[in-house]
Amino acid sequence: MIVATIKEKNESENRVSITPDTCKSYVKAGLDVIIEKNSGLNSSFLDTVYKDSGAQVLEREEVLKKADILISVSTIPENSDMEILKKNSVIIGGFNPYENSNKIKKIIGKDISLISLDFLPRISRAQSMDILSSQANLAGYKAVIEASSIFKKALPMMMTAAGTIIPAKCLILGAGVAGLQAIATAKRLGCVVSAFDVRPEVEEQVNSLGAKFIKVESETNTKDNEMVYAKEMSEDYKKKQLKAIHDIAINMDIIISTALIPGKDAPLLIKSDTIMEMKSGSVLIDLAASSGGNIEGSKVGRKININNCVIYAPQNLPSLISYDSSLLFSKNVFNFITNFITENKTFDIESKDELLLKTILIKNGNKTENFFDG
Ligand code: NAI
Repeated sequence: MIVATIKEKNESENRVSITPDTCKSYVKAGLDVIIEKNSGLNSSFLDTVYKDSGAQVLEREEVLKKADILISVSTIPENSDMEILKKNSVIIGGFNPYENSNKIKKIIGKDISLISLDFLPRISRAQSMDILSSQANLAGYKAVIEASSIFKKALPMMMTAAGTIIPAKCLILGAGVAGLQAIATAKRLGCVVSAFDVRPEVEEQVNSLGAKFIKVESETNTKDNEMVYAKEMSEDYKKKQLKAIHDIAINMDIIISTALIPGKDAPLLIKSDTIMEMKSGSVLIDLAASSGGNIEGSKVGRKININNCVIYAPQNLPSLISYDSSLLFSKNVFNFITNFITENKTFDIESKDELLLKTILIKNGNKTENFFDG
């Protein structure tokens, strides 16, 4: 069986879904690996290193003709690619099915299967395959680094003969995987950090990283139904939340928002009137912009100036740290694929394992119940 990858066509995507390291692991597992020429270049992996790791490096068309499993980070193969792909091949990646259902739809009726690991259940057995966690972790880190490079002041307290520089105040909204890493990074860089999340059980994790947890008192009690993912909150809660965040935000230097509700628009947490009261030079980074945004006015891929504050919504943060994010992503996918390899070294598309049942969106050209028709 041949596992393969092609160069991601999406301009903002620097990652690659097979690295030389995972290439060696596939070969060790008895599989063949084919890479499109220069697939790893934007992540600093050279074709020569792939060849030394046991891969064949070919032109795109040849790769598509031969692949049994085509792995992609985020780019859904185009129609022209689909025409060349082998019958019964399987495409695996992280395709953001909530936002890309129109593109995914084009695969229906094509004798091809598509698996999107975004839908992997968050159970301990699947942790080593969890692309959302590995990439969100790096995004949380990089968000703070991006903020620090836009911010016109230093982050840590510095006592010098010429005077004392006070530490930057940083607020993290949403303390899931990305948010917790953002808290840890901001702390390491010397910021005074506060954080907020609708899931009260996160308070302990926030405190253990040395940050202050902001509470919102409301009739909606989220503690009774502890949730892995957040749900949309009541109108009463939303109002109180906006007020609580407003009161703290106006004294912040940096705000990093990461709040998401799977399958729904991201909650609006910072309104323009809050930004109008923030300090000149403050930096707001919105990681939820592609889902509607946590910060009013944020636009994917753009830096906007309101009230001399910069609102930045990076398009693809893991892609800016593509060497490490590719290492983790490719390992996640390797762990997933090898879970379904049969004795004959084929991919068991008929497996009844929930890890496959919940992630397969199109099976042999037919949409499954996981297919999200936005
Ligand atoms: P996510 O990316 O869906 O959301 C990010 C954060 O935003 C979440 O913490 C969520 O509670 C928060 N949020 C949503 N609405 C909000 C609002 N109105 N105000 C403030 N915050 C809001 O979540 P992510 O990072 O994917 O993690 C979700 C959960 O999954 C976490 O509990 C995490 O610990 C858990 N998890 C479990 C794994 C496992 O294998 N058991 C692996 C990875 C994550």
